[in-house]
Amino acid sequence: MKNGIKKTQHSNYQNEKSKENKLVKETNESLTDNPMNGLPKGHYRFFVGCNLNFETELVKELREASPFFLELDGRRHQHLLNFEVQQGGVEFTAPLHIGLQVNFFSKLANRVLVRCAQKRIKDFPAFYQWIQKQRKQGLLQSFSADHRFCFEVSASQSRLNHEKRLIEIMEEHFKRDDEAEQKIFLRVFNDDAILSIDSTGLLLHKRSQKEVGKAPLRETLAAFCFRKIMGDRNPSEIKEIVLVDPMCGSGTLLKEAANYLQPQLDREYSFLKWHQCPKILKSPSLAGNYEKFPSLFLGLRGFDIENSVLKIAHENLVPQSDVKVNQGLKTDLSVILTKMDLKNPFSEEDKAKFLGNPIWIMCNVPYGERIQTDLNINEIVQRISGKFKPIRMGLLMSDKQWGELESSVKKGIESETVFSNGGLKVHWVVWDYFFSDFR
Ligand SMILES: C[S@@+](CC[C@H](N)C(=O)[O-])C[C@H]1O[C@@H](n2cnc3c(N)ncnc32)[C@H](O)[C@@H]1O
Repeated sequence: MKNGIKKTQHSNYQNEKSKENKLVKETNESLTDNPMNGLPKGHYRFFVGCNLNFETELVKELREASPFFLELDGRRHQHLLNFEVQQGGVEFTAPLHIGLQVNFFSKLANRVLVRCAQKRIKDFPAFYQWIQKQRKQGLLQSFSADHRFCFEVSASQSRLNHEKRLIEIMEEHFKRDDEAEQKIFLRVFNDDAILSIDSTGLLLHKRSQKEVGKAPLRETLAAFCFRKIMGDRNPSEIKEIVLVDPMCGSGTLLKEAANYLQPQLDREYSFLKWHQCPKILKSPSLAGNYEKFPSLFLGLRGFDIENSVLKIAHENLVPQSDVKVNQGLKTDLSVILTKMDLKNPFSEEDKAKFLGNPIWIMCNVPYGERIQTDLNINEIVQRISGKFKPIRMGLLMSDKQWGELESSVKKGIESETVFSNGGLKVHWVVWDYFFSDFR
């Protein structure tokens, strides 16, 4: 069902809701010296971490996705959330069941932390007492004494600058295991200590069932590139567009386009094991309650010179139909993957097959480092333009390549973002061809 749930399920959810309310109430009442205690009842403070320079786009994504989140009774979430940009992430306040759903929906986020407590602390005895207290309240109290936690501790510009000592104190209250799935984060900065619990587990770029090719692009980066090429376009404006990746590798860019605003439900999340996890988020019928977002494009086309990576792209993009349903992937999207050398011109038959509709290009070009190519960046752009005549194009290229290209194709640039791809400085540049130099 779209906006609600079946009647029989409804009463279950009502029960769950009242139990959940009770639990949230109990949990909240025990958060006595939590500086987050100015929060409305049952609300928590969330921190959604992302790559540097992705923060503003993450806010846009969360604004778009949050109306698809579910309330405890299965209806769609209707409240506006107030997102605050921080370096490397976004903070907001929400009820537990709402904030946790960011894990399902965000394609840009790396992880979602729930803030447990925050306090100005300047000496170790006060820190000891504070940690001791936090262990017995809020979300942390429900973990048994022998539950294992992995610690992420950082301290800077503070009197408590001694990370080793902070860890020793934490170890007195939390069983430490560097392999444990459940992480707790302590950050001390400017004498301000923040204790958070990780709700995500394995980082969010780990999508389900993903096969990787050579030099695959991290999914969060691919999702960012896709959002930037979408710009402010309304999904209804791009129904007639075919999205093409002429050097698609394992198909990461196309897959992120296909899964736009689809919840990622078939993977593990740490919060699903929490005592306080709202039951609706664990329900086997959860996927059916989320509204399906319609396919954005007329079709997706992927090309690559290598058969081996196309096979992987096929696994990633054209899964069995039952898998599609489980993963919440769209089943109505036309995906065609074809072996092609960008250097060779299209045959008349290919032209009839692949051209005809307006085309957008998204491409992560070989940087000539891990993946070699005999085409330089100017040639790549010329071949893509000549072959596909796109009306819009986004290219991900190395700093060096952008330096070689920039001066010749300045017109028509709609956006340019610099970020790090596996430690290499890269540029994602989007052109609107109508205004560009290489029409
Ligand atoms: C950086 S990788 C793309 C990675 C991809 N975004 C992914 O996540 O898997 C570049 C791809 O360009 C392909 N390639 C190199 N030269 C090519 C050519 N002349 N024609 C078509 N594809 C080519 C390589 O096989 C490689 O898969």
